[in-house]
Amino acid sequence: MFDFITEEHKMIQEAARDFAQKSIAPIAEHFDETGEFPIDTIRQMGGLGFMGIEVPEAYGGVGMDTLAYSLALTEICKADASHGTVMSVNNSLYCHGILKFGAEAQKQKYLVPVASGQKIGAYSLTEPMSGSDAGTMKSRAVLNEAGTHYVIDGIKSWVTSAPYADYIVVFTMTQPELKHKGVTAFLIETDHPGFERGKKEPKLGIRASATSEIIFDDYQCPVENRLGEEGEGFKIAMTVLDAGRIGIASQALGIAEASLEASIAYAKEREAFGQKIGQFQMIQQKLADMKCRVDASRLLIYQACLAKAASKKSGARYSLEASMAKLYASETANYCAKEAIQIHGGMGYSKELPIERYFRDAKITEIYEGTSEIQRMVIARSLTGLR
Ligand code: CAA
Repeated sequence: MFDFITEEHKMIQEAARDFAQKSIAPIAEHFDETGEFPIDTIRQMGGLGFMGIEVPEAYGGVGMDTLAYSLALTEICKADASHGTVMSVNNSLYCHGILKFGAEAQKQKYLVPVASGQKIGAYSLTEPMSGSDAGTMKSRAVLNEAGTHYVIDGIKSWVTSAPYADYIVVFTMTQPELKHKGVTAFLIETDHPGFERGKKEPKLGIRASATSEIIFDDYQCPVENRLGEEGEGFKIAMTVLDAGRIGIASQALGIAEASLEASIAYAKEREAFGQKIGQFQMIQQKLADMKCRVDASRLLIYQACLAKAASKKSGARYSLEASMAKLYASETANYCAKEAIQIHGGMGYSKELPIERYFRDAKITEIYEGTSEIQRMVIARSLTGLR
């Protein structure tokens, strides 16, 4: 039916499904419970090419397109959204930005090892007092007198993978008086003096993905590690987030699909009042509504992938399509996970099944990489042209 889905797309989807079901699903409960970072399976995902799907082979990736990335990520997230979070930040927030905006030497040094899965990449925009209003950050980068280094100071927060990341794309102010036009992006090495990891966030869901503050205290960043030009940082951050939002939509779709599949199986097996619960109209209504929303999410994700592919030639932004996919899929994940608990009753509420984990993991998809409120703002602004 969808002739843009090729044999290659199906192959990577199948490979991701196989790995996710055999190697991730059995360990997901343990890592959710303990909050440990699943470094071994993350490294294995790197070995399979899942950490740099859209990066050309010359830069350590597998050279496929956004649809391939989305299909693979959805399969990983059906088994465990935490693994998917690490994969998504690595692929779309870290690799995509360097591929699009990095100089050749930056790509060789900072893209190749991360796209090939040997190192872990992260992205840092948010600060304690600057979340949705991303242009108001307080951290600073000041060029030294010799013009060789920027000195970075400040605290960034909610950095996915920060406790394990080798490199981080960091956005900070070089000219605060210019507001968003004064933001600049830098490539940071986490083993350099002046960089420290702060408190690790104790989270409701995606507990096996590690999230922490990062602290810069007199961090000396060589000029050659500036990503793009001075003042281009906000546009880089937003461009990269458009790509990232397709990833989060794909993650949400994985959680929604897992919730629906578990619910169908349970509705066919569990009996009440002398019949399968799937024979009750109230359960049927839930399953039907879940299925419609899952498929509608998938179609919006396909649309966003196609828009991103088209933008490679036209240069046109695909913010509208990415935000629609992220908004709808994340609300679908929450809807489906909630209904899945209801269908499973007490068993859905119990930690014996993964349903309650789907419910906890779903919530973040409505928050990170732009809340649902921000996605609605982007969509409406794109429709009206008004700010
Ligand atoms: N692509 C390219 N440029 C863009 C853009 C995009 N998607 N969106 C905005 N811009 C440009 C605008 O064209 C404008 O440029 P000019 O000044 O040249 O006209 C400039 O950026 C400023 O745009 P706005 O006036 O629209 O900016 P704003 O301050 O009103 O903010 C916003 C817009 C959409 C609300 C934006 O701030 C936003 O997306 N906020 C949410 C931030 C976010 O998603 N944070 C999550 C961070 S990552 C994370 O969650 C952690 C993790 O580790 C996963």
